[in-house]
Amino acid sequence: MERKKFVQLFHLALILIDMTDAGKLCDFAAKFPCKGSHCLPSPCKNEVRQCYCNEGYEGDGETCVSLPYKDCQDVYDAGHRQDGVYTIMPTGWPGLPFDVSCKMENGGGWTVFQRRTDGSTSFFQNWTAYKDGFGDSRNLWLGNEKLHYLTNQRNYKLRFDITTSNGSAMYAEYQEFQIDSESSNYTMNKLGIRSGTTGYQLFRSKGEQFSTHDRDNDACGNFNCAEKHKSGWWHSNTWCSKCYDYYCDHFKLRSSCHTLCTMDNLNGVYNGANGEMIFSRSDERVRTYCSPSSLR
Ligand SMILES: *[C@@H]1O[C@H](CO)[C@@H](O)[C@H](O)[C@H]1NC(C)=O
Ligand SMILES: *[C@@H]1O[C@H](CO)[C@@H](O)[C@H](O)[C@H]1NC(C)=O
Ligand SMILES: *[C@@H]1O[C@H](CO)[C@@H](O)[C@H](O)[C@H]1NC(C)=O
Repeated sequence: MERKKFVQLFHLALILIDMTDAGKLCDFAAKFPCKGSHCLPSPCKNEVRQCYCNEGYEGDGETCVSLPYKDCQDVYDAGHRQDGVYTIMPTGWPGLPFDVSCKMENGGGWTVFQRRTDGSTSFFQNWTAYKDGFGDSRNLWLGNEKLHYLTNQRNYKLRFDITTSNGSAMYAEYQEFQIDSESSNYTMNKLGIRSGTTGYQLFRSKGEQFSTHDRDNDACGNFNCAEKHKSGWWHSNTWCSKCYDYYCDHFKLRSSCHTLCTMDNLNGVYNGANGEMIFSRSDERVRTYCSPSSLR
C-alpha cells in the first residue's frame, strides 16, 4: 500500500518536471535505455521523453518494425545484389506493398517499370490499364500510378537498355525523371540530361501528358497519336502539322509524311519487322527487341 503511493507520487513528480524543465528531463530519462533493438537511444528528440524508431523502422519507439523498401535502390543498399523480384512500398503509396523486378547493375538497384521481350503482351492498352499496370515478368508496364509515387519520393535516373534486332546492346540514361499525378494526366515533369548510345529523342516528351487511345492528351489535333502509335506514351506533337490522318499509318515513315507523334516510344507494336522504332543517335532506325526501362 505504502509502496504504491510512493510510485504514484514519483510519476507525478516526473510530469511536473516535464512541464517545467524539458531539457533536464531528457538528461534524466537518458539513463533509461529504449527497449527495442532498432530504437534511438536519445530520448531528447523534440524535447519529449520518448524512444524513437531508427530511420527505416516504424513503431511506437519500443517496438520498431522494419519498413518495406521504397525502391530497388533500398533493396540494393540493404545488401541484396541478385537481380529478381522484391517487394517495395514507395512513400505515400496508398495501397499494399507490391512486387517489382530489380536489376542490380550499373551502379545500383534499378526498379524496372517497363520491359518487352516478345510480342505476347499488347501495349495497345487503355488509360486504366496504363494507370494500374499490365503484363507479366517478360513484358510489363508497372503502372503510371506507381510510377508517380516512385518518382516523387526522391530524385531518379531513368535508363533504357535496348537490345536491337541485330543483337547489339544500347542504352540511354537520363539524370532526372519524374511523373506527375493523374490529375495532370501523368505529365512527364522532369527529364534530365541524357547520356548513352540510343534514344536521344525522348526530350520531346518532357512536359507532355500521358495519352492512351481512349484519352487523347497529345497536342496534335490532326490525329490521335496513341491510336496511330498503338501505345500509351507521353506523346508529343512532333511532326503533327506535317502529317494528316489520311497518309499516316503507325509504322511507315515516308519522306512526305512523318507519322511520328513521338520518338523513342518504347510502347509501340512489338514486332521485329514492323515494330515501333527507337532512334539511334544518328537517326538510324533500330528495331527494338528488348527494352527494359528502369529507375534509380
Ligand atoms: C480497359 O482495358 C481493360 C483490359 O483490357 C478492360 O478490362 C477494361 O474494361 C477497359 N476499360 C475501359 C474503360 O475501356
Ligand atoms: C547493329 O545495328 C546498329 C544500328 O544499325 C549498328 O550501329 C551496329 O554496329 C550493329 N551491330 C552489329 C553487331 O551488327
Ligand atoms: C486530362 O485528360 C482529360 C481527358 O483526356 C482532359 O479532359 C483533362 O483536361 C486533362 N487534364 C489536364 C490537367 O490537362
